[in-house]
Amino acid sequence: MLFFQLPEDVLYLILSYLDYKSLCRLSQVCKRSYHFTLRDVVWRRIAKHFINTGMTREGTDLYPTIALKDRVKISQNWSHGVCRNNVLLKWKLNLLPWLQLDGDLLYLSQAADIGAYDLRGAERGRFQHNRVDVFSGHQEDVCRFTLTDAHLISAGGDGKIIVHYKNRDYSVEYYGHNQEVNCIDCRGELIISGSRDKTAKVWTLNPDQLGKCLHTIPTYDRVWSVAISPSLCTFVTGTACCENFAPLRIWDTERCDLVTCLGTKFRRGAGVLDIVYESPFQLLTCGYDTFIRYWDLRVCSRKSVMEWEEPHDNALYCMKTDKNYMIASGSSYYGVVRLWDKRQTRCLQMFQLTSSTSSPVYSLCFNATHLYAAVDSALYSLDFRTSGPRPKR
Ligand SMILES: *[C@@H]1O[C@H](CO)[C@@H](O)[C@H](O)[C@H]1NC(C)=O
Ligand SMILES: *[C@@H]1O[C@H](CO)[C@@H](O)[C@H](O)[C@H]1NC(C)=O
Repeated sequence: MLFFQLPEDVLYLILSYLDYKSLCRLSQVCKRSYHFTLRDVVWRRIAKHFINTGMTREGTDLYPTIALKDRVKISQNWSHGVCRNNVLLKWKLNLLPWLQLDGDLLYLSQAADIGAYDLRGAERGRFQHNRVDVFSGHQEDVCRFTLTDAHLISAGGDGKIIVHYKNRDYSVEYYGHNQEVNCIDCRGELIISGSRDKTAKVWTLNPDQLGKCLHTIPTYDRVWSVAISPSLCTFVTGTACCENFAPLRIWDTERCDLVTCLGTKFRRGAGVLDIVYESPFQLLTCGYDTFIRYWDLRVCSRKSVMEWEEPHDNALYCMKTDKNYMIASGSSYYGVVRLWDKRQTRCLQMFQLTSSTSSPVYSLCFNATHLYAAVDSALYSLDFRTSGPRPKR
């Protein structure tokens, strides 16, 4: 009992050095000890070692409204692959859907439209009624889209880019590409698009230059993916690797000069389908070469610092990171979603969502409790928590 008479700061400091098991045991000793183990501060160090708790490598907390203790517990379910799989939506045509999660809203592109769905109270078989908004304007299917606080920016098979203002009934169309726009990214006011027409284009959200193409970069190869560095100084293009150009090239945003190419030896056709930055120097890429590759520009641009291979030699269509140890990826067959722990070379968990061979996972996203994945004709959710988290004290 004397222990709990220590000043609280000291007590919390001591508790923060306990490991997971000891803290769990301590929380069961008595009411007081339980009370002290509820605080986020005692879990922070542990949470950094567990996957997908929302504590990033830099120490930012992505989900501060849910107690860290609960997230550490739910993390065990991610590690062990314990979850409930639900079909949220099914549709008849085969599409190439894209997904983005924004708090309780899930944005999903289906053919030429993008719907915003409220995930609260999502019920099996009734999810279509949760659609609270729809963004349209494309004549052909939406290829990709991206979100900012105020905008939804979509790229279409019709060669158009549309900047939708989310809370106003207003949008601006950007013309410039003469074939389908496969990919788009936006950070700050900067927009980069990539197209089948073998160019990447630079645009802006700046009200004075809305709709104006600032630069066109010939890539001499179809562009499948783009990503802007968090520093805003550079961006990467991922191309089809059908011509003799490195599929990963980094460009300067101001002058649009080629800064560097990533990697050296590439198989023909090893096109890059998705790119994610974790910091201004660290990025993940995946695609037809069946590897997730981790690049650290401070170390080397010729070789990835880590890589993980899809065990069935399937192309990887998309991936997301928890900004710490976990990566989730979508494979090209049987709607396979894989979880990876960066500290292990082998895949940690895999979930097969469909029984149809040619069902790639085109897009996925997750938070600390749910993962959402879209295949050609359905949207799935994996729920890693069944008992809801307690409200934070
Ligand atoms: C993840 O999203 C679901 C659906 O919106 C929500 O119920 C849950 O609380 C979210 N989890 C976190 C950790 O934010
Ligand atoms: C982990 O998953 C199981 C089974 O779905 C569930 O009963 C349990 O509550 C989950 N753990 C947490 C902490 O949510």
